[in-house]
Amino acid sequence: MRSNVPSDAVDVSDVQGLVRFGFGHLTEACYLLLRIRDAASARAWLTAALPLVSTAVKLPQKPSTAMQVAFTVSGLRAIGVGDEVVSGFSAEFVSGMAGDQSRSRRLGDIGANAPDGWEWGGPGSEPDVLVILLADVGMLEDWRRQVESGSFHDGFETLACLPTSNLHNNEPFGFRDGISQPDIDWPRQRTPGTTELTYTNIVALGEFLLGYPNEYGKYTDRPLLDPLEEYADYLLSAEDDPSRKDLCRNGTYLVIRQLEQDVRGFWRFADQAAKSDPKERLRLAEAMVGREIGGDPLAPLNPSAIPGVDYVPGAPSNCFTYDQDPEATRCPFGAHLRRANPRNVDLPGRPAWFLSRWLRMLGWGIKSFRDDALASTRFHRILRRGREYGPGLGIEDALRQEPANDPKRGLNFVCLNANISRGFEFVQGAWLMSTTFNGLNDENDPVLGNAAAAGDCPYTGNFSIPRVGAPPQVLAGMQQVVTVRGGAYFFLPSLSALRYFCRRPTQTR
Ligand code: HEM
Repeated sequence: MRSNVPSDAVDVSDVQGLVRFGFGHLTEACYLLLRIRDAASARAWLTAALPLVSTAVKLPQKPSTAMQVAFTVSGLRAIGVGDEVVSGFSAEFVSGMAGDQSRSRRLGDIGANAPDGWEWGGPGSEPDVLVILLADVGMLEDWRRQVESGSFHDGFETLACLPTSNLHNNEPFGFRDGISQPDIDWPRQRTPGTTELTYTNIVALGEFLLGYPNEYGKYTDRPLLDPLEEYADYLLSAEDDPSRKDLCRNGTYLVIRQLEQDVRGFWRFADQAAKSDPKERLRLAEAMVGREIGGDPLAPLNPSAIPGVDYVPGAPSNCFTYDQDPEATRCPFGAHLRRANPRNVDLPGRPAWFLSRWLRMLGWGIKSFRDDALASTRFHRILRRGREYGPGLGIEDALRQEPANDPKRGLNFVCLNANISRGFEFVQGAWLMSTTFNGLNDENDPVLGNAAAAGDCPYTGNFSIPRVGAPPQVLAGMQQVVTVRGGAYFFLPSLSALRYFCRRPTQTR
C-alpha cells in the first residue's frame, strides 16, 4: 500500500531530542516531577528555558547537557490550554495512568502496585510537568542549578526528583539492557502494506510522532486548532488537514513508571529453584528474561537479515525472530522478551497466496491453537528511554544477608509512543500482564508479574519453560520482584507547541 501522504522530511529542529536519541553518553540524569504553583511564573520560566530544550538535530559535537519538558493533562490545563483543546487529546492521556480502576487492573496496578500506595502519581500526588535533565559525568548538579533559576521556584513546586544511576548498560538484576529498539522511519520511505508477512524492525514515523501516518497509514487523532485562534500561528499546519493548526505535530506521549526491583528476591528465587547450582540459577534467570545475561538472545539468530536491524560486531545481536523456535524450547513463550515483542507478522504461517490468506483470516488452516493467539507486533512497538537507579548488586552479593538500610534499586521506565493505548498499554496489559498470553495459563511476565489475583483471574505465580521431548519445567510460587512506585502519562510537545504554551493566557484551576 502506498502511503497517502507527501514524504516531506521532518523538521527535526522542532522535535524534542529524546524521540531520536537515548543520550546514552550523558550518564547522569534526573527526572523532576513538578506541580505548577503559579502559571504566569511557570510560563515565564519556560519562555526563558526554551533555548535549553534539546532538539532532535544531530550536532557536530555531542552535547554535554540536555533537557526535555513534558506535561500531564493537569499541566496543560494549568498552563492555559482550554478544555475544548484538552478533550482532543487521547482518552487515556486525559484520564491519566491512575485515572480509573479498570485501567489499573489492566496494567497490573493492583495489590502492592496499586496507585494508592504510590510515592507520586497516585490520587492527590499527580505531577503537572516533567523536566528531564541529562548531563556528562560530574555536571548534573550545576546543570540542575542553572535550569532551576529565574522564576522556576515561583512557578513550580518540586513533587519529586527521581535520581538515576549508571550501571553501564545493565539493568539492576544485572542483565544487559537497551539492545532492542524500533528503527523509526525518519525519511518516511516506509509504505506499510495492508498485510505484512515479513518481520521488519522499521516502524512508521507516525507510531512515535504525532501528525504523521502510522502503521495503518492513518493519522492518529489529536486536537486540531482553528488558525484564527489567538497565537495559533505559532503552530504548524496539520498535514492531513492544512486548513487547521496541529498542536501535536512533532510531539508524542511519554509514559513514565518508577519500577522498584527486588534484586535479592529475584536471585534468591532463581537460586532456590536451581537448588543453589550457579549454572542452573543463571539458566533459569535467563529463561525468565529471554536473553543471556550479557545480552545475546536465547532464540536462534535469523539466517537472513532483518530490515532495520544493524549488525554491530561484538555487540549482543538483535537479528532474530521466534520463527526458528516455534516450540519455545530455546526462549520460553512467557519470557519477558518474547512477551514484550513477539516479533511476529500480520498472519501466522505467512500464507503467500491470496486464497490462503483469506482462508487463514477466516480461521481455516490453523495448525496450532497458538497460531491465532497474538496481535501483530508492528502495531505495538514502543521506544524505551528509561534509566536505572540505585547501586549495582552482583549475583553473589544479592544472595548474601541484606544489610540494614539496603538502598533501593530499580528502573525509571520511560517509553515514547504516539498512541498510549496501542503502545504502552497494549504491551503492558495484553502481553506482559496477560495470564493467557500466547496460549499460556496461570502465568504472567516472570520479571514484571504481579501474582495478585485480579477479579476472576486465577493465581498467576507460575512460569513454564518448554523442553525438548519432555513436559515443560514449571517454576511455581514466583515472587513479585518489581513493584510500581509511581507513574504518569505526559505529552512531550514539539518546540513550536512549547512556544505556543508560553503565550497562552493563564486559566484558573
Ligand atoms: C524493572 C522492569 C523491567 C526490567 C528489569 C526489564 C528488563 C529488560 C531486559 C533485560 C530486556 C532485554 C534488553 C533489550 O532487548 O533491549 C528488555 C527488553 C524489553 N523490554 Fe523490558 N524490562 C522491564 C520493564 C519493561 C516494561 C514495563 C516494558 C513495557 C511495558 C518493557 C518492554 C520491553 C521491550 C519492548 C523490550 C524489547 C523486546 C524486543 O524488542 O525484543 N520492559 N527488558
